[in-house]
Amino acid sequence: MLLVDIFMALSRSIDLVDHDIGNHNKRVAYIAGRIAHSMGLSTGKITKIVVAGALHDIGVLKETEYRELVQFDYKGGIDYHSLMGYRLLYSCPLTQDLANIIKHHHVYYSEKKNIPEGNVPLAAEIIHVADRADVLLDYKKDVLDQKNKVLNTLREYSGDRFHPDVVTCFEEIAKQESFWFDLQFNCVEKKIKSYIFYNPLLTLEELHEIAKLFTRIIDFRSRFTATHSTSVAMVARSLGEMCNLSERECLLLDIAGHLHDIGKLAIPLSILEKPGKLSPEEWRIMKRHTYFTYQILDEIDSAEFKVINEWAALHHEKLNGQGYPFKLPGKYITMGSRIMTIADMFTALAEMRPYREGLGDDDIIDILKKERGESLDAYIVDVLLKNYDRLKTVREQAFCDALKGFEDYFDLFKRHDWFYEYN
Ligand SMILES: [Fe+2]
Ligand SMILES: [Fe+2]
Ligand SMILES: [Fe+2]
Repeated sequence: MLLVDIFMALSRSIDLVDHDIGNHNKRVAYIAGRIAHSMGLSTGKITKIVVAGALHDIGVLKETEYRELVQFDYKGGIDYHSLMGYRLLYSCPLTQDLANIIKHHHVYYSEKKNIPEGNVPLAAEIIHVADRADVLLDYKKDVLDQKNKVLNTLREYSGDRFHPDVVTCFEEIAKQESFWFDLQFNCVEKKIKSYIFYNPLLTLEELHEIAKLFTRIIDFRSRFTATHSTSVAMVARSLGEMCNLSERECLLLDIAGHLHDIGKLAIPLSILEKPGKLSPEEWRIMKRHTYFTYQILDEIDSAEFKVINEWAALHHEKLNGQGYPFKLPGKYITMGSRIMTIADMFTALAEMRPYREGLGDDDIIDILKKERGESLDAYIVDVLLKNYDRLKTVREQAFCDALKGFEDYFDLFKRHDWFYEYN
């Protein structure tokens, strides 16, 4: 599997956080790539700018944050989502060199001198212009008709908010009608590929690092999911070992566990955090999450990802065909997916939810026994019950590790009252 393909699929997951932004991250990647190319930057730099553009709003965890960000007059500087994006990207060895760009992607050109770290990278200035151009556009209307409005606004702030050279290059590419049509008619994904000049093959270990980065984005959105994906990954991996799966399969289970709820990025927080039973309508929306997990991971064209996707996205399918979203009968559900389902359930039952406390061992064991051979694989449930204490330790350890990982983010998270509820 190829590095940038994974970033592009993950960019799509970031775009799911808010319906109204559509393909914002991808469009910014495209605009930024076009600007970088017309500025004559090296192929390595163009690639980096496109990837940074595709992930630029990775630090936006809540849909409400987008409401402010899509206002053209949004304040500049190093704000909450820029700093969160910086920390997230810095935490993964494969995205570390993008972190500084994201940190500065809203800094005004005229404010550069006040930034204590010194240099704001040109890449950040390019993404800033691309980002503001995109939020100026109303995609429900004719985009080409809005060209002058966008150009006039960017010119007005050139030298103040925006780097003048970047604005000049934008004016150049804006001359082509096709540029505006690409944006309007959602052709950016295909076009982005022509600005990717460096796309190395990834090892599974490197993919594991990226999966851990995305776990943070998925889990950090709500205090009720704050450690969920990490715990599921660890439990699934251990359960795989206990079921005698190969080392490689166990690593794939670990990766799939980290990504299994990536589709939850598309579920509004009002549903994820609802302190009570979901209404039928909310439940229908909740059921979309595995569907989105499938669609996001399906974009990555590789043999490993076919397996990872299957194991991740089928975690709510049941052997009796009563699961969702594919209603698959048991004969089509493979061992890895069966393990993931059980790992997810074993973890989720013990966790606190908005409408209930975490369940105790007796209740969890009762539920697993009731579902054994019915919706859950009997052999795997037996393995779990036989190793119950060991798996409980794995789950608890993963929970503690994930919480500890949050300490890095502590000064940001203290703005979210919920952080303290763990202490
Ligand atoms: Fe942003
Ligand atoms: Fe943005
Ligand atoms: Fe789920």
